Amino acid sequence: MPSIKQIFYQSSKTIVDLIYMSFICCPLPIFWKYATCKINLIKNIDHYNYTFNISSLNLSNDWFSISIPSWMYTMKHLQIHPSSKMNILEIGSFEGCSTYFLLDFFKNSTITAVDTWNGSIEHKGKINFIEVEKRFDQNILPFKNRLKKMKSTSNDFFTLCKDQRFELIYIDGDHHASAVYQDAVQAFLVLKINGVLIFDDFNWRHSFKLSELPGPGIIKFIKDYKSQLKVIYVGYQLHIQKIY
Ligand SMILES: C[S@@+](CC[C@H](N)C(=O)[O-])C[C@H]1O[C@@H](n2cnc3c(N)ncnc32)[C@H](O)[C@@H]1O
Repeated sequence: MPSIKQIFYQSSKTIVDLIYMSFICCPLPIFWKYATCKINLIKNIDHYNYTFNISSLNLSNDWFSISIPSWMYTMKHLQIHPSSKMNILEIGSFEGCSTYFLLDFFKNSTITAVDTWNGSIEHKGKINFIEVEKRFDQNILPFKNRLKKMKSTSNDFFTLCKDQRFELIYIDGDHHASAVYQDAVQAFLVLKINGVLIFDDFNWRHSFKLSELPGPGIIKFIKDYKSQLKVIYVGYQLHIQKIY
């Protein structure tokens, strides 16, 4: 049974999420998806069971593991088995927390990890990226043979990778609305039909300026491509499937 404190925290978080989602003009089906996904996650139905061995990683920040239940929900819902052989693309790898999860959970898949290892505006002056890149290299060592590391901007990478195709793409790079939109448009071109595109930080609100937040960029993309995609999960992250 959750405590009164947990119920109060979760309810107030939900209310603030809903206010924010109205503010960024989410279409009505996104609200509906948010509510149904929340209920499914609470009921703990439709999930793969997976334990993330985070203690084996050298991390200064864990921004990812909180989102693992939503990945378990989406993968089970779409019947994407952990043994699937997929070509995965990750934009924004940092110290390799999400990269490690992808390589550990999808044991037969390969990953291209794209990062400048130079940070974003919100990291400036706060994080030593030489150390971050060293930790990335160290953390993903057990899976090195299934990883292609690309030290570049997402834009430069997408210019080079036009002939490649991916079954799963995770976007967690530059968080500005316009950059997230650009990453989404370019990712969609190289995503296979039935492929999955996952956005981190859909409900992240670190700034009062909408242009500095991922949410408005993700919603613009969903509105522009609505006939070609299906929204699978809405919560802190947002997951879609390319249907056309
Ligand atoms: C929030 S962190 C990623 C966190 C990571 N996914 C995890 O789970 O730990 C964002 C990363 O995006 C990278 N980044 C920022 N702008 C980028 C761009 N234009 N192209 C590629 N990577 C970028 C930063 O260097 C940073 O490492």
